[in-house]
Amino acid sequence: MRLDKFICESSSLTRSLAKKALHRGEVTCDGIVVKDSGFKVEACHHICLAGEPLSLIGPRFIMLNKPVDYICSTQDEVHPSVLNLLGLERRDELHIAGRLDVDTTGLVLITSDGQWSHKITSPKKECGKRYLVTLADPIDESLIAPFQQGIALRNEEGLTKPASLTIIDSHTARLVITEGKYHQVKRMFAAVGNKVVGLHREAVGHIELDETLTSGQWRYLTEEEIQSV
Ligand code: URA
Repeated sequence: MRLDKFICESSSLTRSLAKKALHRGEVTCDGIVVKDSGFKVEACHHICLAGEPLSLIGPRFIMLNKPVDYICSTQDEVHPSVLNLLGLERRDELHIAGRLDVDTTGLVLITSDGQWSHKITSPKKECGKRYLVTLADPIDESLIAPFQQGIALRNEEGLTKPASLTIIDSHTARLVITEGKYHQVKRMFAAVGNKVVGLHREAVGHIELDETLTSGQWRYLTEEEIQSV
């Protein structure tokens, strides 16, 4: 989108006032003054007007590499929320599309678009979530069939939906589930007498955690990633 249009759609300025502000050098992109009203604004750009950040009212789509000791809800007296890591304006418009436990790391998707997140979290949509799981006790191929057939979780009726398990080594596996029951991965392994000691989400649907994001870093999703859901 052109910079003058971006300013109009994210502030109260008219097109002509936006052009004047540009001319006066009041607009910066990633800290650098931009005077060209035709400058093309990308989702990753940080635009400020007179030092105040501007962002479009439209939906936002973010991936975060969650560290341990952050929570995926807004309120907790002990741990900070992952939303604190974003440092974004209008944080109250954002929600998390599929929470992770405080000790789980990896891919968290954050958005302001409720319909989009519903496609990720609704079990009916069968959106796969892939986890790298580290176990306390040895595992082997004999678990693949029961996980595929469904596991009876404690205090829960029925079986889990088919889950795809790949054994990596004696204590590590990849698991893809399409539901998001409370502590589901930990409870599935507990149901077969094992204990999860490390849990990392690598992918949600076709969205893979960007390997260039270190723990605690985030970026906006690409158009292709957004449309893949
Ligand atoms: N399953 C769990 O047990 N914990 C998570 O954080 C995610 C899936």
